[in-house]
Amino acid sequence: MSTTDTIAADGPNAEQIRYWNEQAGPKWVTLQDRLDQQLDELGRRAMDRAGIVPGETILDLGCGCGTTTLELAQRTGETGNVLGIDISAPMLELARRRAHDAGTRNARFELADAQTHQFSCASRDVAFSRFGVMFFADPVAAFDNVRRALRPGGRLAFVCWQSLGQNPWMSLPLAAVAQHVALPPPAGPDAPGPFAFADRERVSGILQEAGFTDVAFETLEEPITVGGTPDLDQAVEFLLTMGPTQALLAQADEGVRAQVVQSVRAAMAPHHGPKGVRLPAAAWVVRARYSR
Ligand SMILES: C[S@@+](CC[C@H](N)C(=O)[O-])C[C@H]1O[C@@H](n2cnc3c(N)ncnc32)[C@H](O)[C@@H]1O
Repeated sequence: MSTTDTIAADGPNAEQIRYWNEQAGPKWVTLQDRLDQQLDELGRRAMDRAGIVPGETILDLGCGCGTTTLELAQRTGETGNVLGIDISAPMLELARRRAHDAGTRNARFELADAQTHQFSCASRDVAFSRFGVMFFADPVAAFDNVRRALRPGGRLAFVCWQSLGQNPWMSLPLAAVAQHVALPPPAGPDAPGPFAFADRERVSGILQEAGFTDVAFETLEEPITVGGTPDLDQAVEFLLTMGPTQALLAQADEGVRAQVVQSVRAAMAPHHGPKGVRLPAAAWVVRARYSR
């Protein structure tokens, strides 16, 4: 089990490689359990739509800490296998450890960029992703590369966020933070990031240009438990640790930070109940096929 992999921050996704290794990756490792509780339901529903049957060979794109890779490995069983691919060394290190500890023998991991990695050609039945495909500098090139890893007839299924405005679990706390700290100007709608695939016309165009057919969208709308915790203060702490707010708060003085905590807590409190802070989320499950 290699735990010493490194990846150079170069190539078209150099910025994302730096981000997911130096900033976001270590946080995702620390908060893996919480993030999984927040995302599990959406991921599982997308996986159901992928229609995995035993014996299939699967790619898990942007597999992160490996939760979906392990679940896919169970679904395909010992006659199939899963390759999880990700650019984040710390997240993959945890994924490998979890697979090892669980005795999972039909999953392996590759520290590589899904946009440029030379997959063994035309061999995989399915490419899946839970929120791992919105970060490519050139999404057409990336999905073209992924398609080449599929056999003709192979399937693509992933879940991605709809727009920020349709995701109050993110927009409400951000608005509360913005009362005290200037947020960076929003990235362009096509810029790599969590909401880059909000526009279904754009995503449909990307996939068709990359050689996929039968592109289909399904809306998943349901509340999620913010920070995967029943505790209000832990949910607030989670929100202030993840995403862009931590970098902003690191530069703010103590007084401003206290005001931000108070405002985010006040914005979350009306949505807090026995299960935690429950707020609406909207995602797409996107499916497509490589028909050749
Ligand atoms: C929002 S996280 C989701 C992680 C995981 N799929 C999950 O649901 O827990 C996005 C993941 O995509 C990975 N990623 C971003 N760009 C990538 C690329 N070009 N190739 C492979 N993985 C990438 C990140 O390192 C990160 O692990």
